[in-house]
Amino acid sequence: MLSLTNSYSPEDLVDFDTRVRKVLNTEGPVEYLCELKFDGLALELIYEKGELTRALTRGDGSVGEDVTQNVKTIRAIPLTLNDANPPSLAEIRGEVLMFKKDFVKLNETQDDLGLSVFANPRNAAAGTLRQLDSSIVASRPLRFFAYSAGVIEDREFKTQNELETQFGEWGLPVAGEVGGMHLRRPVNGAEEIVAFYHDIEKLRYDLPFEIDGIVVKVNSLRLQNDLGIVARSPRWATAAKYK
Ligand code: IVH
Repeated sequence: MLSLTNSYSPEDLVDFDTRVRKVLNTEGPVEYLCELKFDGLALELIYEKGELTRALTRGDGSVGEDVTQNVKTIRAIPLTLNDANPPSLAEIRGEVLMFKKDFVKLNETQDDLGLSVFANPRNAAAGTLRQLDSSIVASRPLRFFAYSAGVIEDREFKTQNELETQFGEWGLPVAGEVGGMHLRRPVNGAEEIVAFYHDIEKLRYDLPFEIDGIVVKVNSLRLQNDLGIVARSPRWATAAKYK
């Protein structure tokens, strides 16, 4: 699993678009998929013939932890893909997290029981996933959002957006919309990326879960392939964090 280069300002997003266009040798606007940078833990789900067979944490990127038994208790994650003719293999990546209201409730319960409380929803999600007792995991409301893929056999996708739409059709949670605002938005060119950055900045505290920025991906999978990977970071994606 790769990591994202980080930027911290709208200017960095403009620079990202400039670099992308330079490598692709194109003047015209590039289409991007803008989405949320979920503040949780990266997880890979492996479905074989539509059945969830393994779940792994990101670890150091190469070797993760097998958390299959715990992940099978998460209601948001389907045990079977909703597909009459499922792919022989689908490696689906996303983020495990806890909603803010569930985190507050969990800490109240922990406190009532004289147990230690968690510092934030991310730590609560991480601590829960590492639990040795799957019945405790089952009792805690973990959520999941899918946002990228490893290998997917037997299917061809043209764009990142098409891929993520398929995740939704398979029954996996993907970021939807809040108050008519799309939390996953295909845009053209740098100006529209920056507009998304500001739109999300305004509503980030109203979201039911924590985010620490946005992620921007070149939408065309062919162009993603052309751009490639440098030092374990894709040249076709970047994250922009909020202060
Ligand atoms: S895509 C590198 N999309 O950010 C391309 N990652 O530094 C694969 N993350 O460990 C990742 N939200 O945990 C992608 N919408 C999103 C994301 C996202 C959060 C995290 C992920 C990963 C880290 C990358």
